[in-house]
Amino acid sequence: MADGEAAAAPDPGLSARGAGIAGSAKGLLQKGFDMYVRDPFDAAHNPQGILNFGTSENKLCFDIIQERLVKPDMAYLEPHLLQYSDTQGIKSFREEIAKFLTEYAKAPTALDPDHFIVLNGCCAVFATLSTVLCDPGDGYLIPTPYYGGINSKTWLYGGMQPVHVPLFSEVTNEESQPFQLTIEKLETAHQRAIEQGIRVRALILINPHNPLGDIYPAQLLKECLDFAHRHKLHVIMDEIYMLSVYGDTTFTSILSLESLPDPDRTHFMWGFSKDFGMCGIRVGVLYTRNHEVRKAVNQLAVFHGCPGPVQYVLSQFLRDREWLDNVFFPTNKRRLKEAQNILVDGLAEMGIPVLKSSGGLYVWADFRKFLKSQTFEAEMDLWWKILGEKLLISPGKAFCCYEPGWFRLVFSDSIDKIYLCIQRLQQMLRDKIDEPIASSHEENEHIELDDETSANYINTSVDDVSEGYSHLKKIAVF
Ligand SMILES: Cc1ncc(COP(=O)(O)O)c(C=O)c1O
Repeated sequence: MADGEAAAAPDPGLSARGAGIAGSAKGLLQKGFDMYVRDPFDAAHNPQGILNFGTSENKLCFDIIQERLVKPDMAYLEPHLLQYSDTQGIKSFREEIAKFLTEYAKAPTALDPDHFIVLNGCCAVFATLSTVLCDPGDGYLIPTPYYGGINSKTWLYGGMQPVHVPLFSEVTNEESQPFQLTIEKLETAHQRAIEQGIRVRALILINPHNPLGDIYPAQLLKECLDFAHRHKLHVIMDEIYMLSVYGDTTFTSILSLESLPDPDRTHFMWGFSKDFGMCGIRVGVLYTRNHEVRKAVNQLAVFHGCPGPVQYVLSQFLRDREWLDNVFFPTNKRRLKEAQNILVDGLAEMGIPVLKSSGGLYVWADFRKFLKSQTFEAEMDLWWKILGEKLLISPGKAFCCYEPGWFRLVFSDSIDKIYLCIQRLQQMLRDKIDEPIASSHEENEHIELDDETSANYINTSVDDVSEGYSHLKKIAVF
């Protein structure tokens, strides 16, 4: 090597695909979570640590779940539970899930256990299903803001592109509420994607919605299904918050509809992470009547199986209707509503309105008046300032929101922590809003720049909001 010549970086030996995956940026939600993991709040051992109001977890019912999980009927182990089992999910578990969802999703006829596939979480459902429905470069329509994790789940395996259907807070003449989805918006986004040469294969809907917390009215749901049918699109229906509904709004599961316009292209997912507060147990299910789709997902299910003992315990759990109906669901709903009220009242006192919601574990809060300017850069600055106060919440940018200044706050945590969250937020907004940002922001600046949802998002107009997906070739842009 000649003097002064820099040593070449050793070849890490990855394939082009591996290098693409290694080089893909973590989303903002994951980055926030990583920071929290390094310095988590603990009332006794780390009271100055980060309070996590950013990750969508239900921590409200651990006491009653624990009580149920240590009952004698859970302590069962037979050799078959430690052996390889049906990749689709143990039959008796699928039977319990089918009975449970027939009842709780109000299906008009009994759901067939053979139409279910059990995987290790809904992330795995997104990854496998999108891989078998789309080819790399294909697009899926998705109303924004939306749960940003879907981007990586559909891209890392399958190479799919989101085609945004942007929703805004301003209510126009044709609309009755903020961030309202309409069929016209779906049609426009679909048409633009085609004009940009994107083959759109699917429509993804989340109901109850994450992060908005609202619920699709039955009529809109049917219109969306008709829209998808007209354009021969698959519908991936994520109902992971189906039973975390606490207002007086009626929730309509697609499983409850008497008929579907295109049953072979309509796929449903649900899991234990949110409605049962068990995201650590990693179980999600896909329900589809499409035999070929099941066959293909089932091949990939080899990589995404759930442990036999977990499937057994969850079968017992679902079977105990008396406990679910008289203890778990009423307690969970009551605690969710209480927690939501406390947080919403605390935010209201600070002059922060939230979108009216009746499902999910979070509120979608309007911090626009606290932004120095109506830009995503100002949104990021505010996020860092709040983090400086050791409070993690999620900026709208993490959900590909097209309007800066919205944040998602998860309320499904203990009342003590909610009050502490309000206190830290108050302190920051009242006393420190004009102070320079804490030094950790500078240290983390490099993280910001490679963010999948943000890189060129900063200081941009809505027109180029999605260019930050450096790994994605095309995105329908508005
Ligand atoms: C809408 C939505 N879908 C899917 C998931 C992932 O669920 P799981 O824990 O089952 O992988 C989440 C997690 O936050 C979510 O909010």
